[in-house]
Amino acid sequence: MKKVLLIVVIIVVGFFSCRKEESKYPELVLRYADNQSSGYPTVEAAKYLASLIKERTGGRIELRIYPDSVLGSEIDVMKQMVYGGIDMSRFSLGTLSQFFPELWTLQLPYLYSDSEHMWRVLDGEIGDMYLHGMVGKGIVGLAWYDAGARSFYTRTPIANINSLKGLTIRVQENDMMSRTIELLGAKAVQIPYGDVYSALQKLRIDGAENNLPSYVFMDHNQAAPYFYQDEHFRLPEVVMISVDAQKKVAAIDPSYVELFAECARESGLYERKLWLEEEKRAFDEALQSGVTFTVPDEDDLLALRKAMEPLYQELGEREREIVERIGNT
Ligand code: GCU
Repeated sequence: MKKVLLIVVIIVVGFFSCRKEESKYPELVLRYADNQSSGYPTVEAAKYLASLIKERTGGRIELRIYPDSVLGSEIDVMKQMVYGGIDMSRFSLGTLSQFFPELWTLQLPYLYSDSEHMWRVLDGEIGDMYLHGMVGKGIVGLAWYDAGARSFYTRTPIANINSLKGLTIRVQENDMMSRTIELLGAKAVQIPYGDVYSALQKLRIDGAENNLPSYVFMDHNQAAPYFYQDEHFRLPEVVMISVDAQKKVAAIDPSYVELFAECARESGLYERKLWLEEEKRAFDEALQSGVTFTVPDEDDLLALRKAMEPLYQELGEREREIVERIGNT
């Protein structure tokens, strides 16, 4: 009888110690920052990413998502990631360009003909080159997320490019973005994302520029109800991990480094789907809230492109070559 009992005990203990996936406590907890709120496509995709990682590491690694800029503005998060204080984050290309100036090429206005063109580029060799090129500063790029096209919106009616002249427009903390806006005859002010609503309300700025979901999610439509659909920038988002965090992941299991990249890419496909739905929803919500949309006509679009031409003329040889390849993709 005693023998039988002993065998049962051995089997039960063996069963539980072999089943790592049932371990209650993660061996590693990583902090992931996003400056958007719950419900926003990038945050929902980050939650999905966390679930994939939990499932595929058998619960050994947990990703804790911190939305709403609770860990700081994008620039603050970036600085903390470089020193290993925050493990992962989702950044706008507009913020990243300030740290990785070579990304500026991807930020050029009217670089892509449409969203499909952008994804052909980002899903191909050029996208991989930039994603994997974001190393050497303590952080590594894992996957692209969609962020649609950015347009201007203002407190006062906007008929065409000339209406922007003399206005004070908020831009991301990115010098090339300031330059772009100044080429249109407006004055650029760099303000963190979370402070734009109050800057609009306090009349510190006349307008800003962003994609439709951000415009509505941040209530900017309440303060700046004139939306000029010029779609000047298409700035994707990038999911990043710090080199420090990547080493911790590898210490648990070296194969998890690639697993993270794979999960991030999968969450990227999920985010793209959510993005398209959210763009439509945001447009309807903006319309219902009384926003006036202006679509530039052909002449106006030509004038916009012409005003921004110096940005293309100032490119170096290598950048020109990449722009040409993008055009042919
Ligand atoms: C988008 C992007 C944010 C970014 C913001 C901005 O909303 O998703 O990450 O901070 O643009 O204009 O600052």
